Formats: sequence, structure tokens, C-alpha cells
Amino acid sequence: MTVVELRTTAMAVGGEAVAREASGRVVFVGGAGPDETVLVELTDERKTFARGVVVGVVEPSADRVAPPCPHVEEGCGGCDWQHLAVDAQHRLRLEQVADVLRRTGGIADPEVGAGVALAAERLRTTVRGTADPEGHFAFRRRRSHEPVAVDSCLIAHPLVEDVIARGWFGEATDVTIRVGARTGERMVVVGPSAKGVRVPDGVLVVGTDELSSGHRAWIHEEVAGRTWRVSARSFFQASPEGAEALVAEVATSIERFAPEAERLVDLCSGVGLFAGTVGLGRSVVGVERNASAVADARHNLADTGARFVKVALGRWRPSPADVVVADPAASGLAAEGVAAVLATGAAHCVLVSCDPASLGRDAKLLAAAGYAHVGSSVLDLFGHTGQIEVVSGFRRFG
Ligand SMILES: C[S@@+](CC[C@H](N)C(=O)[O-])C[C@H]1O[C@@H](n2cnc3c(N)ncnc32)[C@H](O)[C@@H]1O
Repeated sequence: MTVVELRTTAMAVGGEAVAREASGRVVFVGGAGPDETVLVELTDERKTFARGVVVGVVEPSADRVAPPCPHVEEGCGGCDWQHLAVDAQHRLRLEQVADVLRRTGGIADPEVGAGVALAAERLRTTVRGTADPEGHFAFRRRRSHEPVAVDSCLIAHPLVEDVIARGWFGEATDVTIRVGARTGERMVVVGPSAKGVRVPDGVLVVGTDELSSGHRAWIHEEVAGRTWRVSARSFFQASPEGAEALVAEVATSIERFAPEAERLVDLCSGVGLFAGTVGLGRSVVGVERNASAVADARHNLADTGARFVKVALGRWRPSPADVVVADPAASGLAAEGVAAVLATGAAHCVLVSCDPASLGRDAKLLAAAGYAHVGSSVLDLFGHTGQIEVVSGFRRFG
């Protein structure tokens, strides 16, 4: 085991701090903050870079705090920024987004601001973990598959935490707990099978083996005045508050840059969140490759006239649009997604990114396709973690 003393200089996208050894090699350090001297155990050494974790603090960052959740000390890898004050987390997210838009996106002076404020704790309506050898719910140790049993979770909604504390999950390898915070409905998806699993009364349990053989299971959530069916295999945002914050930021961008837009394309539409909020009163086409999400979207928006196409972005035959809302997976729009935006002819694109690295790449591709960045709002959707959610506007020029 090699332990080195390092001075961190900044935070990298993904949540680790960055330091440099005397040799010049970059080290990504888990559990560190910016501008601190730490003892780092190197866990992965390569020629050009290394990774490590903090095993001691020599001179703490001004942003360092004692992690508020006791399970961090026990090795729980669920949150990677509990050692940073909540206001510092917020500042670092803003800095990282501006940095990536400058460096990767090639935007000299990007407009980046804070989005709607969100609490760091007790909001998350979906958590994913496993079972420990005694069958208790567990998160995984950081950068490991080893389970760390927990009986509470600071970031989870109380309805989720209750299942964590009282459920028994046998020999499950995957346990996803999902609740409707505003409907009270709860569901646990267990892999490979739900046999023998015990949960509090009223919680729906389904095995991934049952889902694979065609069984459907869902809960409902309330967001922006509508009720949304969310099936076991459909994506939904991390909390209803987070979903509403995203909708508000997307709506602001459309009102500011494309208020007259009549035709809206919702790329990566999931269960129809943007189609069913900012799309209301407009002609809407949603594009989504996940069959479960498309079925939910068609059900959720049956009264609106929105049309959902079940197809992967790269195979979609574009419909003309005045505005595009795109909310891709972490890998971003990439070349095929940007080509789809361009092919709609839309004058404005609102991009929702859950990974700043892909935001930087997409901003560069969009600029090459003729769309200028007109502003980004950073949302603290994932409190106590280095994960960052950003809503950005891109206006076609020329
Ligand atoms: C981050 S989620 C956003 C969903 C929705 N906009 C919402 O806010 O709930 C991304 C969605 O994109 C879908 N997706 C991922 N890659 C895709 C692709 N290549 N083509 C179409 N949909 C894709 C996923 O199935 C998922 O539903």
C-alpha cells in the first residue's frame, strides 16, 4: 500500500479532487476537497495518472466538514461529497460547469447561474443498492462491490428510508427502492428474484426475473400538478422537487428565447415529463427508446395530443420543430443527438445534462452545428454528491 502526501488544487468532474505528484503525474483523490493537504492511499496507478483515497488530513480545506451521515465513516459509497459543506458543494458545481464549458465547450465567457434551490437531504425517491450477507439493505463501498449495510439514509425520502430500515432482501444482488413522495406509493425491484423478500405493508415487490418475462409494475408520482405513472423499468427524476425545478428552468429558457414556439420535440422523453409540462399548448413529439417509458408517456399524456415515437435517437426520422428539449443519458447527445436537433430546424434547444463532461462535449458539437450557448442553470439535484444537473440554452445563429 503506497501512501503519499499531496496538495489538492481543484475538483474534477465526477467528484474527486485533483492533485499533482512531484513527478507531474495527476492523482484523482476521493474524499478530498479543494486546496487541502491530505495523505492519500494510491489504489490505482497508471503511467499518466493515478487514483487514491484520503486516509488522513494534514491541512484541511476551508470547505471540509464532518460528514453528517454516520455510514460514511463505515465506508458507505452512496455519497461522495459528505465531507464538503453544502454551500461549498453548490459553489463547486457552479465552478465545474463554467470550467467545462470554457475548456471543453470552447465558450470564452459562459453565462452560468444557480437554478432553483433544492434541499441536500431527504429528497431522493429512488435509491439503488444490494443486500448484505444477512439480507439487510446495503449500499456498496466506494469503488467496490462489497456491501455496507445501512439502517438509515440521509439523502433518501423518509418513505424510502423506512423500506431500507425494515426490509429484508435475502440473497438479492440488486435492490431498487422507489417511492411516490406525494402519492405514498412504494415499490421495490429486486434482482435476480424477489422470492422471500419481506417489506413493510403496502410496498409492491417485483423481481427482475418477473419483469423480464413481461410482468409490469408501477407506482405514481405527482409533479407540476399532474400524476405520472412510472414503471419499474422507466426513468424518473431523483425527486418531485427536482423534477419541478428542471421543468421551471426549461420553461424559463423557452420563455426567454422561444416564447412563440408552437412545435416542440422532446428528445429522450422518458415518461413524458417535459412533453406534459412545457409542451402543453404546443404540438409535441417525444422520442424515447425505452419501451416501458414510452408506454408510460402514452398513458400519462393520453389527454394532451402529444405523440411518442419509440426509437433510438440515431434512427429517428426527425419532425420539424421550433424548440427542442433534450434530456439524454449521462453520455450526452453526442454527434447523433446533435444531428437530430439540427434536422428539426429548431431555432432553440434546451439541453438537460446530468454529466458536465458530456455537456462540454455537446456544447462544442452544438456550436459546430450552428447553436450558440446562451446560458446554463446549475441544479443541486443530487445533494452530498459530486453529480451535477445542468439546464442549458442553445440558440441557432446565422
Ligand atoms: C435522463 S432520462 C430523461 C427522461 C425524461 N426527459 C425525464 O425528465 O424524466 C434519459 C432518457 O433517455 C432515454 N434514452 C437514452 N438513450 C437514448 C437514445 N439513444 N435514444 C432515445 N432515448 C434514449 C432513456 O431511456 C431515458 O428515458
